[in-house]
This record gives sequence, structure tokens and C-alpha cells, in this order.
Amino acid sequence: NLTLRNIAGLVGMKMGTSVLIKPLRNDPKYREILSREFNLLTPENSLKFGSLSPERGKYNFDAADEIVDFAQKHKMQIHGQTLVWYRNLPDWLENAQWSREEAMDILKQHIYTVVNRYRDQISSWDVVNEAINQKGTLRGSFWLDKIGEDYIEMAFRWANEADPNARLFYNDHEGEELGIKSDGIYKLVKELRQKNVPIHGVGFQMHTSIKTRPDIKAVAANIKRLGELGLEVTITEMDVKIGDDKRPLSDKLTSQANIYQDIANVCLQAPNCNTLTTWGLSDNFSWIPIYFKHPDAPLLFDQSYKPKPAYFAVFRAF
Ligand code: XIL
Repeated sequence: NLTLRNIAGLVGMKMGTSVLIKPLRNDPKYREILSREFNLLTPENSLKFGSLSPERGKYNFDAADEIVDFAQKHKMQIHGQTLVWYRNLPDWLENAQWSREEAMDILKQHIYTVVNRYRDQISSWDVVNEAINQKGTLRGSFWLDKIGEDYIEMAFRWANEADPNARLFYNDHEGEELGIKSDGIYKLVKELRQKNVPIHGVGFQMHTSIKTRPDIKAVAANIKRLGELGLEVTITEMDVKIGDDKRPLSDKLTSQANIYQDIANVCLQAPNCNTLTTWGLSDNFSWIPIYFKHPDAPLLFDQSYKPKPAYFAVFRAF
């Protein structure tokens, strides 16, 4: 069958998408396309701390379990997103005072609980998400504030203790090319490697647009230098905005397709990159219009699940 997951498989690539629990529960067509076209799923929100544990000491794994079951049934790999983030924290955590010891204990228990529960099912994790700011230094966050800068290495060590087989990633946006932020990420992960912290790769979110179109040579060079540290790179959350451009739709969709093709190609060419994940299945389920309050169509499938030029472009790249 000529599907993305099959073609990707032939060239040793994983083709992923993020998945939302609502359409997974309610929409047979959504389920059909997921299982037909993708061989990797990333729960879009269901594994975040605030989603899992709205009450202290209690966890609700229903949504995450359903996604994991679905993925296993359809022989799809699962990527966990995310254990440590400055956003989507439970209110009970953010709205109270904690000592350093307490914050460390909460984070450790959280990582142990979640990673251990899925140790035979979730093979890779974004352990720390978006810890670097635009200046290339550590971003202010609950965890930095309460624990200090070593919260990052602690998180990786705890995740590794909870599942020694899991591949552990640092994930961020706007660090895909070369520049101040990606240098900051490079410096962070290099130091982690030097300290023997168990980190296996860097996730490039790749939220981009036809206006800012990524500099492919710089992305290739960045993947290469991370490879020289012994790190894998995965494209974790790709989408390509077209909304803020005045050209005819067909031209915009072609530009979008070219970017998808270039990124698929650059990952395919790099020995240390073998996963391309889009942030959402189809345009009607993209986070972009909600978050940026502007209509858009950043994904591989349109509102009625029709494959777009971008879909065929990834196909061509593989
Ligand atoms: C986004 C989800 O797509 C939204 O549904 C949610 O409301 C907020 O989070 N970077 C990340 C993802 O690492 O977890 C974010 O996902 C998008 C930006």
C-alpha cells in the first residue's frame, strides 16, 4: 500500500503525528487516517503534568491509556510529550509555596510515576521541553525558580532510572537553525553529555511558516553538530503556517509543500535523524488557529482529511 507510513518504513524513517483524545474517541475517519498513514504517535496534551494530575497525588491516565492502546493495536511507536515544562502545570503545584526539597520530590515522583507506568510502551520521551529562551540562556520557570539549574539533569537521570531503555530528548522551538538560541541548546546538551547525563537526542519542534521558511543548510549543519556529540535529532512538532501571506491559496500550498519536502529530505539525509512528526493530523485539529487567533492550514491533510500538496511532498522526499 502506498501510504506515508509504508513509504517511510522503506527508507528507515518514522512518520509521526500528535494525537488529540477527542477526535480519537469520536471520529472513525480520524482513527482510520492515523493508523493508515502514521507509524508514530505523540499524545498532544494527554501526558502533560496538568492534564494527568489536576489534583495533588492523584493521576488520571484514561486518555493517555486510550492513545497508547490505539497505537499498540496499530503497531505504532509512541513518543511521550512532555515530563518537564514551564507550561501546563497543575494549579495545585503553581499556586502554592514549595521548598527546593519538596519541588525535587514532586518532580521525581511525577517522572517515576509516568515513565514507569509506560515503560514497556513508550519508547522515547521529551524529558525537558522549552528550557532555553531566545537569548540562549535558561528560561525562567517554576522548576528553575524552585530547584535551580540542575533541575534539567535531575529530570534526565530520574527518567533514565524509571525506564533505562527509553530514549530521552531535550525538545525546543526556534533552535532548528544556527544562531543564539540553537547555540544555547547546543551548549546545554553538550554539557549534559560531558556530565554523563543520560540524554539521547534533541527534538526540533519545527513550528514554521512559508514566510520564515527554514534555512535548510543551517538545519542540516545543526543536525550534524548535534550528531557529533552522539545525539539523535527528531522533528517533533512540524507545522507550516500559511495564514499571513497574500498570495493565492494554491501558491501558498506549493510553498508549504516545498518546506515539508525539504525538511523530510534533510532528516532523511542525516544519519542521526529518522523521525518526522507533524503537530496534528489535519488542519481542523491544528493548535495554530486557536493559539495565534488566526485561521490557518499548517498540516498535511485539509479540514476534510484530503491529502494536501504537502502530503505528496513528504511522499516524494521518502
Ligand atoms: C500545545 C497543544 O497543541 C495545544 O492543544 C495546547 O493547548 C497547548 O500545547 N510546543 C509544545 C507542545 O511542546 O506541547 C504545544 O502543544 C505546542 C508548542
